[in-house]
Amino acid sequence: GPGAFEAVRWWGRMARSPIGTYGALARRYGDAVRVPFGPNRAFFLLSRPEHAERILVANQDNYVKAFTYRPLRAVLGDGLLTSEGETWRRHRRVVQPVFAQRHVVGFASQMAETAAQAVGRWPDGVALDAAGELRRLTLGIVGRALFGSELEGEAERTGRALEALQRAAVVGTFLPGATAKRGVYQRVPGLGGAMKHLDGMVQRVVKGSSGGELLNLLKESGQISEAELRDEVLTLLLAGHETTAASLAWTFMLLSKYPAARDRLEDEVDKVLGGREPTAEDVERLPWTKAVLSEAMRLYPPAWTIERDALEDDEVAGVRVPAGSTIAVPPYLIHRNAEVWPNPEGFQPERFMGEQAHPRYAYLPFGGGRRICVGAGFAMLEATLVLATIARTHRLDLVPGVAVPVRAEITFRPAGVLPMRVVRR
Ligand code: HEM
Repeated sequence: GPGAFEAVRWWGRMARSPIGTYGALARRYGDAVRVPFGPNRAFFLLSRPEHAERILVANQDNYVKAFTYRPLRAVLGDGLLTSEGETWRRHRRVVQPVFAQRHVVGFASQMAETAAQAVGRWPDGVALDAAGELRRLTLGIVGRALFGSELEGEAERTGRALEALQRAAVVGTFLPGATAKRGVYQRVPGLGGAMKHLDGMVQRVVKGSSGGELLNLLKESGQISEAELRDEVLTLLLAGHETTAASLAWTFMLLSKYPAARDRLEDEVDKVLGGREPTAEDVERLPWTKAVLSEAMRLYPPAWTIERDALEDDEVAGVRVPAGSTIAVPPYLIHRNAEVWPNPEGFQPERFMGEQAHPRYAYLPFGGGRRICVGAGFAMLEATLVLATIARTHRLDLVPGVAVPVRAEITFRPAGVLPMRVVRR
């Protein structure tokens, strides 16, 4: 890896573009890079499937969420994504049953209906902000399915709050003494207002809604304190919509760039659905549609990096990792590792048709081990149903000459608005 002096330059780049810097470090130094980070903390960027397997699965007891999650923890507190130990275990036990596969299929009709309603409002032949529309749609689905709340009207302000939060998360990580204390972030200009909006939304959900299965479960389990309830509702609202929206936005961008893949998807949807809305049973009969989503998440994983701190010394697929180190195993880099993925930059959904040839931890859009995404099944069902519902009647085309800038902070998404022209098929 780079020497200490050179590392300072890399860290400077990191604050401006984390994903560009990780990519450049891997291209320069290979798939196991050590960047010195202060006198006591080593930072490892590891991008082989074996690295991910060791850290997230085989030796997962040796790892906790990294210090880089502190700004996120300041906002999400003791919710599933950012808690540890006994608190995490207790929350996971309460929440998990709602996300069991046989249970999740019960949300399918709500998912498809919400998508059909959104599409019904789109004007024909006009460019709209696809990223914003998809965030509204996925927030609407999570709100209805899990919390019995109508949240589509909150989407725009929530989107702005998330932008502020994500920016602060990157900057906050690089400040000396990065903290998980809520009060510190509340005083940051711009961020205080964002947090206020999110708190208000959570309060409206908790107090005003007609229940919703997950909310009732959280309230009635007798396992979750009032403060924890707030953290968990916010965690599920945010983790449950922004990533799915990003994966759909990338998917529509790619379909617009690869017309043959889109033709095949439209054929499949027409044949299987024959003009009606999709159901949970249809999902198994839409292999190409699912392969397109999987391939989009390989190239553009919304959760683009996964990071842990080591409790004790470890040996990670030949790399010696001292206690106290931080390790990043970024899906973004692992998914583009040329030793595992032939033609790694190419969009080839065929990779996900039939028998899978890649090693198990070469593909980890939802992470792995016990901290694996609790909503993975929900997200895949939702994304497939939304994609099929939209593709049944509409096409989204990139506006010619308009580039799609990328942004990666906590999540990897199109930066700002994503103008796409909506056309009725
Ligand atoms: C955790 C990705 C959708 C809720 C995670 C993790 C990843 C991920 C990579 C692990 C993070 C880590 O190990 O540090 C995604 C992607 C999604 C998606 C790519 C969509 C395409 C959802 C949905 C929900 C959800 C729909 C809920 C409705 C959560 C929660 C955790 C989590 C609560 C923390 C789990 C735990 O630590 O116990 N997600 N997710 N996610 N995700 Fe998702």
